[in-house]
Amino acid sequence: MSISIEHAQEVLRPPEDGLPYVRHDHAGELVLEGGSLTIEDGRVAGFGADELADVRIDASGCAVLPGLVDCHTHLPFAGWRAEEYELKVTGVPYEEIARRGGGIAASARALAAASDEEVVGQAHGLAAEMLAHGTTTFETKSGYGLSVAGELRALALAGWLAGEVAQTTRSTALLAHAVPEGYTADAWMDEVEGMMGEVVVGPASALDIYVETVAFANEHLARMGELARHHGLALRAHVEQFATHRSVPVALEVGARSVDHLACLDPDDLQPLAESECAAVLLPGAEFLGAERIAPGRELADAGAICVLGTDANPGTSPVVSLPAIVGLAVRRYGWSVREALLACTLNAAWVLGLSGELGSLEPGKRADVILLDGPALHVPYRLAHNPVWAVVAGGELTWVRPGWEERIRR
Ligand code: NIG
Ligand code: FE
Repeated sequence: MSISIEHAQEVLRPPEDGLPYVRHDHAGELVLEGGSLTIEDGRVAGFGADELADVRIDASGCAVLPGLVDCHTHLPFAGWRAEEYELKVTGVPYEEIARRGGGIAASARALAAASDEEVVGQAHGLAAEMLAHGTTTFETKSGYGLSVAGELRALALAGWLAGEVAQTTRSTALLAHAVPEGYTADAWMDEVEGMMGEVVVGPASALDIYVETVAFANEHLARMGELARHHGLALRAHVEQFATHRSVPVALEVGARSVDHLACLDPDDLQPLAESECAAVLLPGAEFLGAERIAPGRELADAGAICVLGTDANPGTSPVVSLPAIVGLAVRRYGWSVREALLACTLNAAWVLGLSGELGSLEPGKRADVILLDGPALHVPYRLAHNPVWAVVAGGELTWVRPGWEERIRR
């Protein structure tokens, strides 16, 4: 099976092949110029048109990008919490919503009450929506189980989902999200340690923890880091979302792969983070919808951090699955160029998931995850809330085409 994508207005490529990530002070070196692309047997074959290809796509006027990588989502979850959003925007504080039984505990109850089929069915529908918005790789997380059996079930459901979707997925075990009822944070961490034997035989490739006044503390982050190291898993961490806890030095000390949120990053922690190989995963959907503080995206980029964007798709803080929408928010609120924003949800996001040797950029030999936009890349942030994606190739297969655009495809 071969595909020839021809005469694009722009093709986005890294400054050179083989880079595991590009630091954001070098994002301007990404190449965005006209050209063609051929795909053979699921891989990027080269950068010319192939008249003999099985499928030929007219990409005139279009940007051609690597498939988008969403390295921070909370799929699979059950139901939504729209009533909480209305409370939040009309002035009810998060703590009060939680006191009324809302928040993570509400999603945990919904997950426990839903059948396996319902949970995977909802996530499958969201994955289809993500695909139509250009996401060809995404992360799944547990975290709404809030019991040993519940977390193991969530990981199993994520594994089931992985086999059902067109995308590449990576599973993260968010084993410390909220302190389950009847436990202290320390006692729950003992349970987490006891679960590790079962977690490592499953598909999870990373552990995750939420550090916040209402959740876990830096000492638990350090302990999770030790568990990750001991079991050969990557460490992710939700940190500095609502308040500053100085969790970043702790995360760097234990070799975290990423620190996520960072709206309340302490200025003293910015430079050490920027110099490390730990990615700064920014989640502007949660920041915008929660009226949170704004992460120092411009400063992190200028300091040479490995910056990354994710949707944080979850029923509470960010019920958003569109990475193009997230790019729109990031460009406006961090003062980023379109190259910076696209780097953050392609190659650098693949780095967070340990996949940047395989996907995340258009390079010969890499997995052929390719998307076509209905205009130039500059339109992605500018036409906020428009879905610019009209065709998606995942693993070398033409997986999604916007209705009405088939005439550009010759088979
Ligand atoms: O990434 N910060 C903690 N966890 C999620 C929100 C979880 C929820 O409210 O359901 C987040 O924002
Ligand atoms: Fe999250």
